Amino acid sequence: MLTQIDKAQTLAERFGGWREGEFAPTGVPVSRIAEEHGTPFYLYHGEMISERVRRVRAALGGDVEVTYSVKANPNLAVCQLIAREQLTGAEVASSGELVVVRAAGFAPEDIVFAGPAKTDEELRMAVEEGIFAVNVESLNEIDRLASIAEKEERKIGVGLRINPAAQLMGSQMRMGGTVGQFGLDEADLPEAVRRTLSYPDQLVLRGIHIYTATQVFDADALLEHCRNIFEIALQTADLASKPLEMVDFGGGFGVPYFEKMEEFDLERFGEGFQQLLASYRSDPRLDGCRFVFELGRYLVADAGVYVTRVVDVKEMKGKTFVTTDGGMNHHLTATGNMGQVFRKAYPILNLSRAGAGTGEEGVAVAGPCCTPLDMFGTNIPLEDPRPGDLLGVFYSGAYGYSASNLGFLSHPTPAEVLLWQGEARLLRPVGKPEDVLRDQEPLPAPERESGVLG
Ligand SMILES: Cc1ncc(COP(=O)(O)O)c(C=O)c1O
Repeated sequence: MLTQIDKAQTLAERFGGWREGEFAPTGVPVSRIAEEHGTPFYLYHGEMISERVRRVRAALGGDVEVTYSVKANPNLAVCQLIAREQLTGAEVASSGELVVVRAAGFAPEDIVFAGPAKTDEELRMAVEEGIFAVNVESLNEIDRLASIAEKEERKIGVGLRINPAAQLMGSQMRMGGTVGQFGLDEADLPEAVRRTLSYPDQLVLRGIHIYTATQVFDADALLEHCRNIFEIALQTADLASKPLEMVDFGGGFGVPYFEKMEEFDLERFGEGFQQLLASYRSDPRLDGCRFVFELGRYLVADAGVYVTRVVDVKEMKGKTFVTTDGGMNHHLTATGNMGQVFRKAYPILNLSRAGAGTGEEGVAVAGPCCTPLDMFGTNIPLEDPRPGDLLGVFYSGAYGYSASNLGFLSHPTPAEVLLWQGEARLLRPVGKPEDVLRDQEPLPAPERESGVLG
């Protein structure tokens, strides 16, 4: 089983390895990127993203479409890179994500919109853009969407997001198979179909969408889950008395951020899924159907590293504390503050010293925010960390920048840099202290108070 250090070293090599004692992704020394653009920054590797998308598509087979779940990393250039990998669509969860994917070049017919609490304005945008399907999460949403489509005088595709009765086992975070805000109860499927079809001039029933869990590592459990999805799809087609145009299987392929986690076996899952698909695809109820997986972290997580500078190193009662210029404010997930029950450390290396990570004593690495929650890990084997060194938090391409509470403590926001075609391109500059005032309306200047003497 790989240790966290092994994982970090493997990722560092995939980024381009080391040169003269420091991390040099695609041959560019990390200190040079830091000098040019400032710290902290997210560094994304364009070719690693493209390779990953292709690998997933190859594993799932040509009959399956892979859509990118933009929530994982909505950076425009990242979305553009994925959009350029043709046959790939996008799954959005907000009007902002819809704006990004349209700007990135995804075609409306390759976009689906899922997520609870879509506002009228968001539904209106989806109708106006003419996206392939709004994956509705409640019976009310069907009615609201129909009334908006009527006002806009345009028809819109509908996917029924079903919360299945059966749970997907072997996952780390569930959004279905349990009671919750996501999707329609499977028991409401007949009513959802009836209701959608009752608006023939406004809504087109495209099919179903089932996304119940993330961080799934058990390929066999996921295959069993997909079999259940096929069965629900057939049942839906029967209820609608027409073939389905879309079955969206969700995905949730896991990323092994933490120790004792092993890679999701993509090839094994892909092989199993292709067999499963072969056994269903000739069913006339799926004639002409699009089979879709929507993946976020699996496409981009390993292609990102968060780089932060060591500000101070101190000893306290025999323990070494390393503090850095960015922490939970920039990378909430890596500090264990997003949906983790127990805090565990991401793979972290001292990028300024080749061979780093071999330190015997684990050190604590903490960010700059005044809370004990701002901690990347308490036992990280960094070799000889010194002020000025650059640390790299690997697996940071997903749920990093946009998943963080960037305003917390009003530190400047991190930069985003893309390594692509051998160059490091700035995608978003590091923030400035005065940005904190941006978009804020000050109070008017106080009127001169008339004093006692008039
Ligand atoms: C509906 C939906 N689709 C896709 C995703 C992406 O999940 P992941 O990044 O684990 O692939 C999520 C994550 O929350 C989701 O809620």
